[in-house]
Amino acid sequence: MTANLISGTELSKSIRTRITLEVKELSQKGVIPGLAVILVGENPASQVYVRNKVKACEEVGFFSSLDAYPASITESELLNHIHALNKNPKIHGILVQLPLPGHIDASRVIEAIDPAKDVDGFHISSAGALVKGLPGYWPCTPFGCMKMLESINFELKGKHAVVIGRSHIVGKPMALMLLDKNATVTICHSATTDLKAITLQADVIVVAVGKINVLTADMVKSGAVVIDVGMNRDEEGKLCGDVDFEGVSKVASYITPVPGGVGPMTITMLLQNTLEAAQKRHIA
Ligand code: GUN
Repeated sequence: MTANLISGTELSKSIRTRITLEVKELSQKGVIPGLAVILVGENPASQVYVRNKVKACEEVGFFSSLDAYPASITESELLNHIHALNKNPKIHGILVQLPLPGHIDASRVIEAIDPAKDVDGFHISSAGALVKGLPGYWPCTPFGCMKMLESINFELKGKHAVVIGRSHIVGKPMALMLLDKNATVTICHSATTDLKAITLQADVIVVAVGKINVLTADMVKSGAVVIDVGMNRDEEGKLCGDVDFEGVSKVASYITPVPGGVGPMTITMLLQNTLEAAQKRHIA
């Protein structure tokens, strides 16, 4: 079997085209969706991520601001800035790029964001809404993975979905979203004893560990769907995911590439959440 590619680049294009049209409609009513992005410190990967987020906002016609602070900013200064953004009517979404420097309590900063502007879906009330199956903003990366599964009309009901990784940003919310669609879900992590025995039972595998070759061909059932959330650099400095793409492509029915897979979908779902935040506030 040679797996079909699920292209995040292509899927993002079509979703962003639709978002652009919805922004035009909103702007005729005098509303421009606005996203505030906050970056603290000089983490090079974070600098690239936030630049891409701001650029994507411009491309779909959003208003966006990028506030870059030195790593020396105090927690209370950062909290004051968030309080101001909470009150700013031009801003519908607030994103604090993680990680934050060690002297700042990231949870306290995230909980300071107005849940109505929590387009990253990291606020405790967004997390609680996801657990309870209530409306709320879903974290963008797992939300993007769900859109990719939807794009191939993958019926999750009754299927065995295995998530490798248990982070707050990807693994845990991913498992809840799959459960919401009636999959039987297993979460695997660093203390899982026989990962291969579990992944071999999976109809869909989502890998979000941050390590090269976590999933190899011998660990995948023929015809399974594989979503690779990883973003690593190999010895030659080339971008690659957590999945042995070449090997697993020969066994899986569908696979997401890296780059061009989940990465662009994360930003697309951020745009979607921000658009929704603007629509909710202005269309009663
Ligand atoms: N750091 C790594 N991924 C993310 C993300 O999706 N959102 C934010 N805010 N920070 C991150």
